Amino acid sequence: MKFFADTADTEEIRELADLGLLDGVTTNPSLVAKTGRDFFEVLKEICSIVDGPVSAEVTATDFDSMMTEGQKLADVADNIAIKVPLIKDGLKACKALTQGGTKVNVTLCFSAAQAILAAKAGATYISPFVGRLDDIGHEGMDLIGDIVEIYANYDSFNTEVLVASIRHPMHVVEAARMGADVCTVPPAVLKKLFDHPLTDKGLAAFLADWEKTGQAIVS
Ligand code: G3P
Repeated sequence: MKFFADTADTEEIRELADLGLLDGVTTNPSLVAKTGRDFFEVLKEICSIVDGPVSAEVTATDFDSMMTEGQKLADVADNIAIKVPLIKDGLKACKALTQGGTKVNVTLCFSAAQAILAAKAGATYISPFVGRLDDIGHEGMDLIGDIVEIYANYDSFNTEVLVASIRHPMHVVEAARMGADVCTVPPAVLKKLFDHPLTDKGLAAFLADWEKTGQAIVS
């Protein structure tokens, strides 16, 4: 399973990249707005930190403008993936951009029917938003199970399932159990994956016992 960081904060991205656990980054207009920085400046910096795909989202909603924006964003770096919303023009742009050799991440997916359309449009990634489904009383992870199952039925569907809107470590664990290809994880959630109280307790005990021996591995 690949891990993408769901953030446009370059300090957080640097920190996660240093851990060696980062396969890519996803941004969206809200995450960029949160940084208060220039979009293109942020994108260039992110692409210089990570080799993997960096999703940059168009803000146009008609085909022609999406294509113009998509091309401009793709010119930022070789590892840009263009993010388009799951609307008719978005899927039309997805097909055209994909045919031109650009990676496309289709975002704002909330149903298996939408995910089928994205795969038919040749999307590189489909981004189902599990947390936002949970928020309205649905079981977000059921959608991931459905999409993984459906995509496995067709050799012609090469779209990767990119689990988005992740809110806690169990979303990641369930996504892995279901065989999703990628989780895009907010940095705070990614850090929580490390945590277990028995790890902390066990390490403290080992170190205390070692201290008693008076030895040093390197002196
Ligand atoms: O990048 C898209 C997605 O991960 C957004 O998550 O928490 O705003 O629902 P959230």
